[in-house]
Amino acid sequence: MELLKQKIVEQGVIVSDQVLKLDGLLNHQVDPQLTMQMGKEFAKRFGDQGVTRVITVESSGIAVAFATAYELGVPLVFARRKKTLLAEPDMLCERVPSFTKGIVTDILVSRDFLGEKDRVLFIDDIIANGDAARGLIRIIARSGAELVGAGIVIEKCFQPGAQAIREQGIRLETLARIASLEGGRITFVD
Ligand code: G4P
Ligand code: NA
Ligand code: NA
Repeated sequence: MELLKQKIVEQGVIVSDQVLKLDGLLNHQVDPQLTMQMGKEFAKRFGDQGVTRVITVESSGIAVAFATAYELGVPLVFARRKKTLLAEPDMLCERVPSFTKGIVTDILVSRDFLGEKDRVLFIDDIIANGDAARGLIRIIARSGAELVGAGIVIEKCFQPGAQAIREQGIRLETLARIASLEGGRITFVD
């Protein structure tokens, strides 16, 4: 998506060779028009898959997941994050390390909102190491639902998450692919 790449260049702040701050676009402020276009794009790519639910992990994936679910006319489920150690029997739970934040959280989805009749599309904002994505994919598998694919706005190609998901045989579509942040520049693939 050319408009997205333009906004990434305008709003992105390179923090290091590994991290691009995107508060103006994804993590603190949301551009509704652009977000609805991203949802349209994911809905177009996955529109023939019989999706029954869109799923994401709170919090930054929710806006684009909402836009996608709206376009597909299905509910959005967002996995909750908790620091708790208490077991919740009706919840599917996976422990997820966050490399960037240096913490471990539990992500939880109720069995009321995900089950074996579902065909699920996973949507998220950024894929880096892919730990949260892998945790959510395990939850989807345990629920008995079918994962039809994943749509993620920004792929950091120099980190292993996206490739690992594709190697699992999962269809992963991304809207902007960042090859490198080195030399103080954002370099896209293509
Ligand atoms: P991930 O691929 O599973 O997300 O792995 P990782 O543990 O590396 O990332 C942890 C968090 O940091 C994720 O947000 C991820 O989106 C975010 N992140 C990773 N790299 C970048 C980056 O270069 N720029 C920005 N802006 N964010 C990055 P999260 O924990 O899912 O939190 P939330 O934003 O959804 O609340
Ligand atoms: Na996220
Ligand atoms: Na994030």
